[in-house]
Amino acid sequence: MIRHLLSGADLDAATATQILDTAAEMATVAGREVKKLPALRGRTVVNLFYEDSTRTRISFEAAAKRLSADVINFSAKGSSVAKGESLKDTALTLQAMGADAVVVRHPASGAPHRLANWVDGSVVNAGDGTHEHPTQALLDAYTMRSRLGRIAGLHVAVVGDVLHSRVARSNVLLLSTLGAKVTLVGPPTLIPVDIPQALAPGTDVSYDLDTVLPGVDVVMMLRVQRERMNDSYFPSAREYARRYGLDGPRMRRLPEHAIVMHPGPMNRGMEITPEVADSPRSTIVEQVANGVSVRMAVLYLLLGGNNR
Ligand code: NCD
Repeated sequence: MIRHLLSGADLDAATATQILDTAAEMATVAGREVKKLPALRGRTVVNLFYEDSTRTRISFEAAAKRLSADVINFSAKGSSVAKGESLKDTALTLQAMGADAVVVRHPASGAPHRLANWVDGSVVNAGDGTHEHPTQALLDAYTMRSRLGRIAGLHVAVVGDVLHSRVARSNVLLLSTLGAKVTLVGPPTLIPVDIPQALAPGTDVSYDLDTVLPGVDVVMMLRVQRERMNDSYFPSAREYARRYGLDGPRMRRLPEHAIVMHPGPMNRGMEITPEVADSPRSTIVEQVANGVSVRMAVLYLLLGGNNR
């Protein structure tokens, strides 16, 4: 097993499959009356969040607690980070406290990689800037596998603000490792020219959602990340929704079996309408539930279930 999980590229097919299989076992715990395993008793997991988060943060906390680890939640707000403490000094503090794993979300791309050089424990990237979010890609893969029975051979459209999306980057890497085909769809201003070939040769690009939809098994909608935009990448929200938003009529162009995913948080009415988000094809709530099982598997394998 790997020591850190920093990028989708850290996972070969065997390791990713081991995580997904372990997550399936972890999912059975969620159905029990007592949702707890003793696997990480006496180990300490620190959640180090420098950026806002709802799902990912709660999910990692629930995962660590269900494995009986001691959990320390650190948020940059209200800590000495607000006094200007550097990431390195914070890392040394965590090190002194004996953290076995540090789960980090940071606005700077590459911050988790730096952290991995400064602490002895395992580092899990919970989203770094516009770079990567590998556990999101794992939970997305888990959701596809549980809904559609496989990942190899699937055609997945990843739609919207690819430029700012760490979810898209990690998904392209992991899905191609697992044998799925990815088509990135969005306005040309939001699809970096270098991304498809640099990340995974075989990744396609399309600027026309309507022509792509009838041929996919999965459509993954991305949030338009206005907080990361200091330029105008499209004329207006209305125009964006008209060309790239997934609404009821567009959803009906999908094959019967196809599913609709979104990592959350959603801009309802922008990239996805409520009719689609709340439809039976939508896996949005399932993705959140699967996130806990997948993060349990990641923490378990990095900390306990390996033989390092
Ligand atoms: C994503 C993120 O933070 O990268 N959300 C998540 O982790 N569920 C996507 C987003 O913010 O749009």
